[in-house]
Amino acid sequence: MKICVVGSGYVGLVTGACLADFGMTVTGVDKDAAKIAALERGEIPIYEPGLEEIVAKNVRAGRLRFSTDLAPAIREARAVFIAVGTPPLPDGRADLSFVRQVAEAIGDNLNDYKVVITKSTVPVGTGQMVEKVIRERSGGGQEFAVVSNPEFLREGSAIEDFMRPDRVVIGARTQRAIDVMVDIYAPLQAAGVPFVTANVESSEMIKYASNGFLATKISFINEVAELCEAVGADVEVVARGMGLDERIGPRFLQPGPGFGGSCFPKDTRAVAQIAEEHGLRFEIIDAVLSANTRVQRRMVPKIAAALGGLEGRTLAMLGLAFKGETDDMRESPTIPIIEGLVAGGATVRAFDPAATEQARPLLPASVAYFDDAYEAARGADAVIIATEWNQFRALELDRLRRLLARPLLIDLRNLYAPDRVAAAGLRYVSVGRPEAAPAGVTA
Ligand SMILES: NC(=O)c1ccc[n+]([C@@H]2O[C@H](COP(=O)([O-])OP(=O)(O)OC[C@H]3O[C@@H](n4cnc5c(N)ncnc54)[C@H](O)[C@@H]3O)[C@@H](O)[C@H]2O)c1
Repeated sequence: MKICVVGSGYVGLVTGACLADFGMTVTGVDKDAAKIAALERGEIPIYEPGLEEIVAKNVRAGRLRFSTDLAPAIREARAVFIAVGTPPLPDGRADLSFVRQVAEAIGDNLNDYKVVITKSTVPVGTGQMVEKVIRERSGGGQEFAVVSNPEFLREGSAIEDFMRPDRVVIGARTQRAIDVMVDIYAPLQAAGVPFVTANVESSEMIKYASNGFLATKISFINEVAELCEAVGADVEVVARGMGLDERIGPRFLQPGPGFGGSCFPKDTRAVAQIAEEHGLRFEIIDAVLSANTRVQRRMVPKIAAALGGLEGRTLAMLGLAFKGETDDMRESPTIPIIEGLVAGGATVRAFDPAATEQARPLLPASVAYFDDAYEAARGADAVIIATEWNQFRALELDRLRRLLARPLLIDLRNLYAPDRVAAAGLRYVSVGRPEAAPAGVTA
């Protein structure tokens, strides 16, 4: 089957490459000419483990190509995936202008029956809008279907998530459209992945309700962590004790500096906004949003307290991206944290394995960037782990201690067992756990 995927960002590129790997013939389209030129040269414009290999393999096999030319890609396709951005507007609503532009182009090029699939995260009612735009632009003579097929992949493990999802959600009005979707995802069905079929509105709602719930879980454990610090409990043990309850489950109970990224902040704000537009209040989501801002903000005084003040301190910041194994800086909690540290008079020396270039324009100009963790740590008053990159789980603690002016590791991701850090001669401050210090070391 010929497929057109519009938008070659994190979601579109992964979707296109994986569908080509399923045997489909895919054209990935983007309006960003530089991005398409890079892809045509075999360069992947984003950092995503495994993506380069799967793109190269399918380009070589002749099943995947890239273009800026949307019209012919639409005309030859049976299925058109819309995977463009839906960034937040100032009031929190999702900006649907890119989705609308694509719908207009589809309407202008509707030469035979097509299934138009919304992969972008879009508010309830967008499917109807897309349908209306296509009908108006095409003149109404040609049959087509609009399907909602939200994406649940996580950056950093996007290929694995696409290839082995917990479920595939298909929101459609007709059996003919569902049949096309089942053909596209046949390898997943064969692998036993559950398919949830729904109407378009329920499918759109599944995505927002899922992200809203996951954000709630994160904010919940972050507030538990704060409480643990106040009462002398250990949040890691508490989370394990909670997570073994099957009704709760262990995932998304990792405390940290607050959630960020391109999805949770935007999607929680959007679902709150959707509720408001319908005369309702999603009170839990409102609380999640304010709790997350507070959790991010509390990291600055927490760091200051560990150091006995920020003025004149030099801090090595490990990790800038909003999570590990990605270069995505969108709404990264490291942005307000570094701003707060710099405003407090600290000097920041930063290292991120992939996000430095994306981070530069978003962070204060005084931040200095280094090519590895140990260079960043040289002469600093503390190392702060801000992102859970796998490589930060295996730092040479002895080496860090020797490089630091003061032996202090502040871990906002709880990557280490406190005793191990203390045994390496470093004072260890983490989230929701009692501080650990080697004998004789003080702030
Ligand atoms: N990133 C994630 O982890 C993730 C996960 C699930 C769902 N989503 C959703 O998927 C959607 C895309 O997210 P993303 O992270 O891939 O965004 P992105 O910004 O990485 O990519 C979007 C791409 O769409 C292109 N584009 C915009 N308008 C276009 C047009 N009219 N024609 C052609 N190309 C156009 C942009 O140039 C860009 O390359 C969003 O709605 C997001 O909420 C993202």
